[in-house]
Amino acid sequence: MDLQLKNKRVVITGGSRGIGLAIAVAFAREGALPQIVSRSQESLVKAAVLIKEQTGVDAQTLSADMATAEGLQALMQAAGAADIVVNNAGAIPGGSLGDIDEARWRQSWELKLFGYINVVRAMLERMQSDGRAGVIANIIGMAGAAPRNEYLAGSTANAALMAFTQAVGADSVREGIRVFGINPSPTRSDRMETMLRSQAEKKLGDAGRWMELTSHMPFGRLMEPKEVADLTVFCCSPLSGYLSGSVINLDGGQMYATPK
Ligand SMILES: NC(=O)c1ccc[n+]([C@@H]2O[C@H](COP(=O)([O-])OP(=O)(O)OC[C@H]3O[C@@H](n4cnc5c(N)ncnc54)[C@H](OP(=O)(O)O)[C@@H]3O)[C@@H](O)[C@H]2O)c1
Repeated sequence: MDLQLKNKRVVITGGSRGIGLAIAVAFAREGALPQIVSRSQESLVKAAVLIKEQTGVDAQTLSADMATAEGLQALMQAAGAADIVVNNAGAIPGGSLGDIDEARWRQSWELKLFGYINVVRAMLERMQSDGRAGVIANIIGMAGAAPRNEYLAGSTANAALMAFTQAVGADSVREGIRVFGINPSPTRSDRMETMLRSQAEKKLGDAGRWMELTSHMPFGRLMEPKEVADLTVFCCSPLSGYLSGSVINLDGGQMYATPK
C-alpha cells in the first residue's frame, strides 16, 4: 500500500528514543524525511545512524528542550515548514498525589502539556499562513481515557490533551489541517521500564520483578513501539484524510477488560 508520504517533511519531538524513534523509522520507511528533536545531541546522532542503517534515509536532527520557549523557537526556525508534526516528547513521572510535589508536577507539565499546546499553536499558525494542508499528531496516552491514581500527573495531563486535541482538531479542518491524537497503553521503552521497576518495588518489594507486571496486559505483553509507530504513520498519511478531532485508544481493549 502506498501511503503517499514520499518526501513529506515530518518533525517528531522526542524522536531519539522509544516511541518517537520508532515513528521516525516508520516514516523513513515510507520515503518521508524525518527531523528528530530531543535534548541530547549524542542520542540524536545515534538515532540518525540507526534510521540510516534501517531505511537508508538521512534524518535531520535538532537539539532543543521542548519544555522551553527557546526550544519552541529553535523548532520553528529549523522545521517550521513541516508537512507533518508529531508531538511525542514527554516525561511525566509516575506516582499519586503525595508522591509528586507541586514543583515537579508543574515542571513535567511544561513539556507534556504546555509543550504540546505551544507546538500546536505555533505550527497551526504557520500552516495556516503558508496555506499548507498539514497534519499534527499528538501522542498522548491511555491514562487520559482510563485515569490511574498511580500515574496521576500523567493521567490528568493526558485528559487535558485529549480535550485540547478534540476541540482544536474539530476546528482546524476548516483550514484543511488535521489534528488528532493517539493514546498508547504501556509500551516497551526506557521510560516504561523505569516506571514498572518503581511499581514492582512498591507492589512486589523487588524492582527486578517488573516483567511480572506485564503478564495481565493484552496479549500478555507490553505494546511494541513499532505498533504505535505504524498506526501513527497510517493516520498521518492522506489515506486517513478524514481523521481529525479524534483520539484513538490503542490499548488492546485493556480499558474494557474484565479484571481477573
Ligand atoms: N511508553 C509508554 O508506555 C507510553 C504510554 C503512553 C504514552 N506514552 C507517551 O509517549 C511519549 C514517548 O514516550 P516513550 O516511552 O517513548 O519515552 P522515552 O523512551 O523516555 O523517550 C522520550 C523522548 O523524549 C525526549 N525528551 C525528553 N524530555 C525532552 C525535552 N524536555 N525536550 C525535548 N525532548 C525531550 C527524549 O530525549 P532526551 O532525553 O535526549 O531529550 C526521548 O527522545 C511520551 O509523551 C509518553 O508520555 C508512552
